[in-house]
Amino acid sequence: MIRKFTFGTPVPTDAVVLSLPAETGPVPFFTLSRDGDRVILTRKLQPEDCLFGLGESVRGINKRGSLYRSWNSDVFNHTESTESLYGSHNFLLFFGPECLFGVFLDDPGRITWDLGYTRSDTAVITSENGNLDLYFVEEASLSETARSFRRLTGQSYLPPRWAFGYIQSRWGYASESEVRSVAEEHRKRGIPLDGICLDIDYMDDFKNFTWRKDAFPDLKHFSAGMKKEHIRLIPIIDAGIRKEKGYAPYDSGEKGDVFCKKEDGSEFTAAVWPGICCFPDFLREDVRRWFGSLYRPLLEAGVEGFWNDMNEPALFYTDESVEAAFRRAEELCTGSSVDYEEMWSLNNAFSSIANNPEDYRSFLHEVGGKPVRHDLVHNLYGAFMTRSAAEAFRRFDPEKRYLLFSRSSFIGAHRNGGIWQGDNFSWWSHLRMALQMLPNLNLCGFLFSGCDLGGFGCNVTEDLLARFLQLGVFTPLMRNHSALHTREQEIYRFSSWEQMRDTVRVRYALLPFLYSEFMKAALSDGMYFRPLAFDYPEDRRAVRTEDQLMLGEGCMIAPVMEQNADGRYVYLPEDMLMIRFRSPEDYDPVPLEKGDHWIRCGISEFPLFVKKNHPVLLCPGGESSETLDDRTFTALCMADRDVSYDLYRDNGTDPAPTLYGHLTKAVVPLAAQGSSPVPGVAISSLVL
Ligand code: GLC
Repeated sequence: MIRKFTFGTPVPTDAVVLSLPAETGPVPFFTLSRDGDRVILTRKLQPEDCLFGLGESVRGINKRGSLYRSWNSDVFNHTESTESLYGSHNFLLFFGPECLFGVFLDDPGRITWDLGYTRSDTAVITSENGNLDLYFVEEASLSETARSFRRLTGQSYLPPRWAFGYIQSRWGYASESEVRSVAEEHRKRGIPLDGICLDIDYMDDFKNFTWRKDAFPDLKHFSAGMKKEHIRLIPIIDAGIRKEKGYAPYDSGEKGDVFCKKEDGSEFTAAVWPGICCFPDFLREDVRRWFGSLYRPLLEAGVEGFWNDMNEPALFYTDESVEAAFRRAEELCTGSSVDYEEMWSLNNAFSSIANNPEDYRSFLHEVGGKPVRHDLVHNLYGAFMTRSAAEAFRRFDPEKRYLLFSRSSFIGAHRNGGIWQGDNFSWWSHLRMALQMLPNLNLCGFLFSGCDLGGFGCNVTEDLLARFLQLGVFTPLMRNHSALHTREQEIYRFSSWEQMRDTVRVRYALLPFLYSEFMKAALSDGMYFRPLAFDYPEDRRAVRTEDQLMLGEGCMIAPVMEQNADGRYVYLPEDMLMIRFRSPEDYDPVPLEKGDHWIRCGISEFPLFVKKNHPVLLCPGGESSETLDDRTFTALCMADRDVSYDLYRDNGTDPAPTLYGHLTKAVVPLAAQGSSPVPGVAISSLVL
């Protein structure tokens, strides 16, 4: 059951697809209060209550105990105490002995989530603007509540199948020959690869929709050549358009009056990578159409995937924020020296030049012909940029699925694209954070997701990259990405590249299976990754597990996330088959009983756990998703009956994929267990 309440005059956000009548009268589950414009929801928490959701946010799977703010932010250097990340996903599930419901604030402005932070027994959710639609979702189980919420917000984005391949990315690939050499190094060493991202270096002076003719002379030819080798180019597009007469996107934008304005009617400008930029008003339909049309030459050049960036939007500085910092410096530096307090104020004055809250208050959008201040709708900006691109791709070729992933997002954008988890660091803590974010992203609809494997900022260590990749085997987006000036992070740069290659090869062996699990989750409004609580709500250990995730219908992952560990404890809520991988040809299938287990996992090993009567299918793999053999499988299963498995083998780009390969009941027969070299595990060879 879904109930809706409306406060004030909400701006249309495109978050929901069902139109429900708003109720009047008291809201359920919370005490409602007002403070000026603010709408405040307060609820007492029982000791056992757990809170799941908020998509992209720091800390644990269970969000209880901390403070979060919905405010899309460019926070390169985030840590455990950062309150906002790149996306805002305002859905939270309350789960305890006496409660099971979800609350969604369809509100694109600033929201504070005090989830047992000020008082450990109280949750207080505050909408700062007070213009919102508030939804309550109540169903019989956690999974059904999540499904009902997805029905409200619409089916998750389906990427093309090749997007499940391994993608290599680095800020700094500055020429066609450099990109080719990255491709060659992978192919020569047998490291599978499906895509290479082009970061801002492909552009002419970092200007969107241009490319450097000296370094990338013929993009169409280049893209076609790479595609013959089954490698797609995936260029980046940023939100800002450089303010420069004579630059076609600026000229056409100015002519069409598409850019956000200040109150005095002048264009709002701020610096990002290309220098001073204007910002398209993506909230306007005509502007989305205009911006979307700018992708066309790249689509015509054969590009089938993009990543949209800097769309919080990130603002490096405005003239106003720089002037304010200098004014503050003049106030502080009156004598010949400063004391320590003045020094810190000085420091703050300059560090708040970027992404300054005053700047976000200083420009306007147009909604329904009326001006709306940016900060009141801030969290929509990236989502509407994604919408603009996705709508353009559908116009360009309605028969095809494109790869699209964005940095900034809001619920609703999950129908149009995936997201990556933003800039992270080569830290063990960020590996753990990535894992903990995934189920909450799924809960909010973002199934196609993954982090920068290896970490974006600072220098990765070899073992950290290996462990990141082992998580990446299971994340729908498997992309190795790193920042300019950091240690080179391509697999082949490291002495243990063969082990890491084998990790990626396991991904390819599992690719048809993982793709099927993803498709089933997406098409049934389910979750690809879930907290263990969803499958074992009665099991107190499972409910509180923070370092393992359910995957697809019958699997569980438990990656090693500590340096120098050669294994880890894993909690099995029921009997499961463990498959400890070293390569697609070298793995240990071990049936394990419910309970705690120490699982040995040397640096080249990683486990997958599988429930009884759920087969896992391994194909022989290949160097790309297009060339892998997905007809010959080894099926592994711990079974007490004959089992069948539905495999998705569509053409990989069809907008309405169908189940076309279908394993019948006879395929993994219980009898196979009798002749198996591993007692209790059926191992069958299948040819489809
Ligand atoms: C931003 C992106 C990052 C990219 C960089 C340069 O920091 O998040 O992925 O590499 O900009 O474009």
